[in-house]
Amino acid sequence: MTQPVLEAVNVVKELGKGAAKVVALKGVNLSLVKGELTLLMGPSGSGKTTLLSILGCILTPTSGTVRVEGEEVAGKSAEELAELRRRHIGFIFQSYNLFPTLSALENVRIALDVIGRKGYQAAQRAEECLRDVGLGNRLKNYPSNLSGGEQQRVAVARAIAASPSVVLADERTAARDSENGHAVMALLARIAKEQHRSGRRGAEAAGPRRT
Ligand SMILES: Nc1ncnc2c1ncn2[C@@H]1O[C@H](COP(=O)(O)OP(=O)(O)OP(=O)(O)O)[C@@H](O)[C@H]1O
Ligand SMILES: [Mg+2]
Repeated sequence: MTQPVLEAVNVVKELGKGAAKVVALKGVNLSLVKGELTLLMGPSGSGKTTLLSILGCILTPTSGTVRVEGEEVAGKSAEELAELRRRHIGFIFQSYNLFPTLSALENVRIALDVIGRKGYQAAQRAEECLRDVGLGNRLKNYPSNLSGGEQQRVAVARAIAASPSVVLADERTAARDSENGHAVMALLARIAKEQHRSGRRGAEAAGPRRT
């Protein structure tokens, strides 16, 4: 059997304290396999962002196990987790998290910069990813001069730039049936399939949307 890229076993997450305590995840089991597109759906507040944050090693679970490429996450230091994220995981945040003072191209380049890829080749790679998501003619635009859907595609380009093993795409429930939502899902499915077919390590399981 193929080893999952990401695996959650009995994941529980409590958020908040005292009377405000919420059990956001009550024992979640999930496996994401390379080349597959997995959709997670649930009403607003059902814990999708929380689960993706845990799978993306941004949050740690209250209990349960998370494995990235078979490697258990528990007990790792903040630096080790950051390294694991950089090596394996592309994350598209619900709010995209683009830098407002950087152009589309610079927003993607920064993802390569943090893994030590700089200069002309990094710029070429960033441009290639933006062309791949249909933004070859928007390279110099700042986020404020892009539509919401275009901003999300910059976030997709940034998530795939470093050729991660898995891409986690977060989206709020309210956006789930929008035309753009479908377009982004189709885009991620295509990228997952293409990368898998070409045998490249990269963006192979375009993971949960609709979150
Ligand atoms: N820091 C926190 N402290 C207490 N409760 C929290 C905290 N963060 C989130 N929650 C609660 O945890 C639950 C899960 O939130 P989460 O953001 O994962 O939902 P979601 O499924 O992503 O929703 P949406 O579709 O609206 O994005 C919600 O009820 C939320 O109010
Ligand atoms: Mg959410």
